[in-house]
Amino acid sequence: MNIKSVLFYLVSLSMIFSCSEQKQSSASYSKKDSINKKVDSLLELMTLEEKVGQMNQYNGFWDVTGPGPTDGNAKLKYDHLKNGLVGSMLSVRGAKEVRAVQKIAVEETRLGIPLIIGFDVIHGYKTLSPIPLAEAASWDLEAIKKSAEVAASEAAASGINWTFGPMVDISRDPRWGRVMEGGGEDPYLGSAIAKARVTGFQGDDLSSPSTIAACAKHFAGYGFSEAGKEYNTVDIGTSTLYNIVLPPFKAASDAGVKSMMNAFNDLNGVPATGNKFLLRDILKGKWNFNGFVVSDWASIKEMETWGYAKNKKDAAKFAVIAGSDLDMESSAYVTELKTLVEEGAVDESIVDDAVRRILTVKFELGLFDDPYRYCDEAREKAVINSKANHDAVLDMAKKSIVLLKNDNQLLPLEKNGQTIALIGALASEKNSPLGSWRIASDDNTAVSVLEGMQNYKGNTLVFKKGADVSIGKTIFTEEVKINTTDKSEFKSAINAAKKADKVVIVLGEHGFQSGEARSRTDIGLPGIQQELLEAVYAVNKNVVLVLNNGRPLIINWASKHIPAIVEAWQLGSQTGNAVAQVLYGDYNPSGKLPMTFPRNVGQIPIYYNYKNTGRPVNEQADNPDFVFWSHYSDVENTPLYPFGHGLSYTSFEYKNINLSKTVYDINENINISFKITNTGDFIGKEVTQLYIRDLHASITRPVKELKGFKLVELNIGESKSINFTLTKKELGFYNNQGEFIVEPGEFEVFIGGSSITSLKEKFELVSK
Ligand code: NOJ
Repeated sequence: MNIKSVLFYLVSLSMIFSCSEQKQSSASYSKKDSINKKVDSLLELMTLEEKVGQMNQYNGFWDVTGPGPTDGNAKLKYDHLKNGLVGSMLSVRGAKEVRAVQKIAVEETRLGIPLIIGFDVIHGYKTLSPIPLAEAASWDLEAIKKSAEVAASEAAASGINWTFGPMVDISRDPRWGRVMEGGGEDPYLGSAIAKARVTGFQGDDLSSPSTIAACAKHFAGYGFSEAGKEYNTVDIGTSTLYNIVLPPFKAASDAGVKSMMNAFNDLNGVPATGNKFLLRDILKGKWNFNGFVVSDWASIKEMETWGYAKNKKDAAKFAVIAGSDLDMESSAYVTELKTLVEEGAVDESIVDDAVRRILTVKFELGLFDDPYRYCDEAREKAVINSKANHDAVLDMAKKSIVLLKNDNQLLPLEKNGQTIALIGALASEKNSPLGSWRIASDDNTAVSVLEGMQNYKGNTLVFKKGADVSIGKTIFTEEVKINTTDKSEFKSAINAAKKADKVVIVLGEHGFQSGEARSRTDIGLPGIQQELLEAVYAVNKNVVLVLNNGRPLIINWASKHIPAIVEAWQLGSQTGNAVAQVLYGDYNPSGKLPMTFPRNVGQIPIYYNYKNTGRPVNEQADNPDFVFWSHYSDVENTPLYPFGHGLSYTSFEYKNINLSKTVYDINENINISFKITNTGDFIGKEVTQLYIRDLHASITRPVKELKGFKLVELNIGESKSINFTLTKKELGFYNNQGEFIVEPGEFEVFIGGSSITSLKEKFELVSK
């Protein structure tokens, strides 16, 4: 049977269903039912080998628009594709290129089942939005959703119908390079962002040609890689797993995410890819997740290297039984699974379940109606890099900027009559601001900070590099270093600084210094940048430091001396315009840190929702020799900049926290109100934050937990009354059996503009 007969069969089947749909008044034959029926019918037509083929994913492995490869591994993979032994490909991109591989699957295989095409659409496709950690700093869920929509529309116009995003790994360790890909350290914010990104990518209708299937990754625990070292083991307790790591995945699942990806790590000694507890018991069991699970790259095979599976056959068996449905680049299923089923080691129903999940998403994407629906070259041309998309990522970029410090209102800069020295090689960079994980984008396409500032013509702008930046050419191979020794350009930079009214210095990490496999132990300013900063400050105190980075950095000296610090991350295609508009006050920043900035590496992991311990304070405050409390001897416990911190050009006053009563029944909602006033000289937005503390519980609870936030815009002098509601969902937690419970007892509630809150009240929950 070929495509024509299969499609004819399925189309007639859907006609039968829709006729009976019309006959029946109830909506008993929903779209979902009809897809389920089509999937079942197709499954019945499939041989075991063809089913296994659907569970196999290969990377784009040859120039797909040319002739197929003739030898080696590529030839083998190509033959697999032609023989219906490939269900998905990743990293093939472009309407024309995807059409070429799709054509083979659809026209040359017996059943003509279309491929699902995966790609790492992490923060945009061609038009790049800020790195995900930066977007998280906006706390603006609508903007984040919009950014995912833009990314989806470009990717979908370029042949892609499935992204390996969002990454929803919570992490407390800025040494880990992949923090740039996530939503930060907090499960509440992380869950809200997970939902926004999933709904942004997938939209309301997955079969629309401008939406794509999403993939929450990496399930689970990867953000807790020991010591922030990439691909390391993970050792976390049950309570951290349930209360910190899993909530964003649950939020993605509840938002209807179509797939999840395994993590590279082990958890309690079992690699996540073969972890039945994670995949079958929690994800597909308790949560009733009905999408499919893809392994991470070769993570099935790597179970051998972990010393968990004896050989590839065992690895395939463990992975499929655990619940991994699609094998990314291990070739373990395609070579071993048929035999495993024939030998009785794996029940065919497990294979059927995996294939059913994958086929369902293919049907939902509309691939059976038109396998080439994502391959329209005219649409590709029109959508990619459109003005509307660039406007959207500029908006997102501005919202992602965090003003860390602004002494004496050094910012915003005056627009006329000033000499501004712009210093730092990153200021003229057009590649680095694109950030890591932007495989499809074109190199050197970001608007640099220099270009952005050149748009303001009223001042004299003098640019000097000061120190060079060497640029990695590709994301995979080049180790990128900010030049460590050559100070030959210091002198001209210092001279420019001396003559300037104000200095804007752009320092930090190159875009490829964070991301996958970019863990670092020294997370200060790389190379000679610190020296450059100090040399510049020595001749001019009016320094604005603009940071570019994919993770929290340690910037103690800067924080102490430099009057204004702007956290500008890597903001994507429109970086320079966003930074310039903020520096010149055409946009008033409102971003807040989604991750704590430590004082030194020794404090890591440092996070706002820590446990009180039995000895939280020095009980003998007047006795400096008393040491028996939870602290370090050489650095204070507090971070440099706390979670939730971020200033504005205006100022906000919080007052009048109000709860209608002090004792509530455990089933009641708790309404909290407060008043916020813009007390400064600019119109501004503020992310108001609500935290709670459960004072006594059956397991120890954090000193603060974010449980609500609202973005509020206020005119100069304006006040608003803001309300939050706490329900069981916010008041409860997971016990060590993984059950969500709410316990009676006393709570504190805090309100403010960061995790160092300004208002506090108490209430009690009672159960009658
Ligand atoms: C490995 C990464 O861990 C994962 O996040 C990514 O999606 C795959 N490679 C595919 O590129």
